[in-house]
Amino acid sequence: MLTSSLLLLASLGAGIAQAQTLEELYLENAPSSPRPYVIPHYANSHSVTIGSQLYRFTVTGPSSDNAFTLMSTNSPSSGDLGVLPHIHRKHYENFFAYKGRFQLWAQKGDGEQQARLLTQGDYGSVPRNTTHTFQTLDPDCEMVGVISPGGFEDLFYALGTNYTSGTDTPFVPQASNGSSSPSASVISSLQKYDVYAQLSFEPRRDLVNGTAPVDDSEWHTGANELGTPGEPYFIANGYGPKYLNSKYGYQIVQPLVTPKQSQDTNYTLSTMILSRTTKASPPEWTLNGAAAFEVLEGVLSIKIGDYPEATLYNGDVAFIPANTAFTYYTSVAFTTVLYVSSGSKGVDTQLIRGGKSWDYTTFPKY
Ligand SMILES: *[C@@H]1O[C@H](CO)[C@@H](O)[C@H](O)[C@H]1NC(C)=O
Ligand SMILES: *[C@@H]1O[C@H](CO)[C@@H](O)[C@H](O)[C@H]1NC(C)=O
Ligand SMILES: *[C@@H]1O[C@H](CO)[C@@H](O)[C@H](O)[C@H]1NC(C)=O
Ligand SMILES: *[C@@H]1O[C@H](CO)[C@@H](O)[C@H](O)[C@H]1NC(C)=O
Ligand SMILES: *[C@@H]1O[C@H](CO)[C@@H](O)[C@H](O)[C@H]1NC(C)=O
Repeated sequence: MLTSSLLLLASLGAGIAQAQTLEELYLENAPSSPRPYVIPHYANSHSVTIGSQLYRFTVTGPSSDNAFTLMSTNSPSSGDLGVLPHIHRKHYENFFAYKGRFQLWAQKGDGEQQARLLTQGDYGSVPRNTTHTFQTLDPDCEMVGVISPGGFEDLFYALGTNYTSGTDTPFVPQASNGSSSPSASVISSLQKYDVYAQLSFEPRRDLVNGTAPVDDSEWHTGANELGTPGEPYFIANGYGPKYLNSKYGYQIVQPLVTPKQSQDTNYTLSTMILSRTTKASPPEWTLNGAAAFEVLEGVLSIKIGDYPEATLYNGDVAFIPANTAFTYYTSVAFTTVLYVSSGSKGVDTQLIRGGKSWDYTTFPKY
């Protein structure tokens, strides 16, 4: 009797030891190979400082099998460009305003130079071979970056100073009184990191109502379409195309990059607005590529693989490796996430296909 109880206890113990725990799901730094994980907002995430800017990398080349990099840049306002103008030949870069204003410039070849003032939720698309630069303009700025393929963080590891914090402060107060941008000679020596300096690029300053040129560019005044493949484009928060999917509760997908724009960089990027789920058990997804969620507003519940369900708040990131089952939903009224997916069959693409065109950033009442 005693023996069998002990055996039972031992086997229960072994069972518990084998189950994945929530503690094991939560990481401080993106791992060196793909696995499910959650990184809370402002965790270290391989952070480095460059001048007054603090960079964090929540999804990296190694953590995503080179699918994409997900990163954030926190900084105060700056009187200077955040980086000298440059091009990437192999990497498609995306700029998303999480909070605070920043200005983004982009120019393709001898096309007209575009500039926009981005506020919370605004987005700028910088395909390969597009000259670009940015400048932060408010005391508490956070830009979220998505770069495909993954691995681009190596540039920042090389340029930056490794950083850790006991307080998880978004960025270090008075870290530097100088420019954050590496010098022209440093920028010019970075081609091995896919950075090609464009030092003759003169950022235009003639913005009116947040845009230059003024002529036909709707900026917080009318609809923004996704761009012609290869050309830079900008989508103001809520002014892009929207699709309503009603299958699992309401989800409004606002695509920022579809397979048409990403071409062979092979990813999609969207924001998704979720209503409280109406299903007892939300649907299970398994994708052929890696995917990540970052919470922008509200609360996201997500269960990945064999790990227990995690609850994510603003700025928290969940990473899902390829071919790993996951479910997600929200139990609050209104949740917005940024979603990135490797390949052309992500949740966003599937929800758009099963949804209908929609004019609003809110979902219907019953
Ligand atoms: C900085 O951190 C990276 C990983 O985030 C590590 O590979 C590198 O060795 C660190 N460098 C120093 C000087 O500690
Ligand atoms: C980018 O420019 C380089 C150099 O001109 C060229 O070799 C490459 O094919 C271009 N890439 C794309 C995607 O246009
Ligand atoms: C920047 O300037 C402030 C105010 O003058 C000073 O307190 C701080 O030490 C300076 N920081 C650096 C890194 O030089
Ligand atoms: C800028 O915005 C103001 C306020 O909406 C408007 O009156 C003005 O015409 C705009 N200027 C241009 C050049 O569009
Ligand atoms: C695109 O990405 C998907 C998912 O990661 C992958 O299965 C597929 O092989 C990729 N296609 C190309 C052409 O790279």
